[in-house]
Amino acid sequence: MKLIAPSVLSADFSKLGEEIKSVEKAGADWIHLDVMDGHFVPNLTIGPEIIKASNKVTDLCLDVHLMIENPDQYIDQFIDAGADCISVHYETTTHLNRTVQLIKQKNIKAGVALNPATPINTLEWVLEDLDFVVIMSVNPGFGGQSFIPNTIEKIKALKTMITKKNLPTLIEIDGGVNEKTIQKISHAGTDVFVAGSAIFKSSNYKETITKLKSKW
Ligand code: DX5
Ligand code: ZN
Repeated sequence: MKLIAPSVLSADFSKLGEEIKSVEKAGADWIHLDVMDGHFVPNLTIGPEIIKASNKVTDLCLDVHLMIENPDQYIDQFIDAGADCISVHYETTTHLNRTVQLIKQKNIKAGVALNPATPINTLEWVLEDLDFVVIMSVNPGFGGQSFIPNTIEKIKALKTMITKKNLPTLIEIDGGVNEKTIQKISHAGTDVFVAGSAIFKSSNYKETITKLKSKW
């Protein structure tokens, strides 16, 4: 099954609750929340309090994308705040297996995100523990960037790796997903599509989400 996960990074934060409810009504499957620390990525965004507030307005799966150094230090706080899925960046943790176990211990979904230049074989010995892999198709930090074309090959290679190992691991794509790019991304083997600006900068969320879903 394919899923759409609007990224609230491009939403109007002055009415975040309404924005989340609007995309839920418009057909969103997950809500993607981008946590940035100003160190791992050159931008600062939200913390556990906003996850907690988001959890009050929706029952959809809260997909928390941690773009922070020392993720181990904060994982429990995000779980307590209501995260249903947490992804950490491969590039931010020395003991990836331990970090993944910290997430899984609390019975929520664990994912690892890879920057555009990070190879997929870094995940070979942890893949079986992952519920999902986030392939970044832009350099993390900002919404509204262009999709990096060689990501298509990377998704295909990851799909092959997952299939060979006969695993249920989902492939999530994050960055530059829009009506023009979604079809190729989907055909390459993607399961979860994060889309920020394509949805929140559009004038009709329902129309946009329906169109995106019609093309995958
Ligand atoms: C970027 C974030 C994305 C971002 C995607 O670092 O991880 O989730 O919101 O934005 P769009 O869909 O506009 O590329
Ligand atoms: Zn993200």
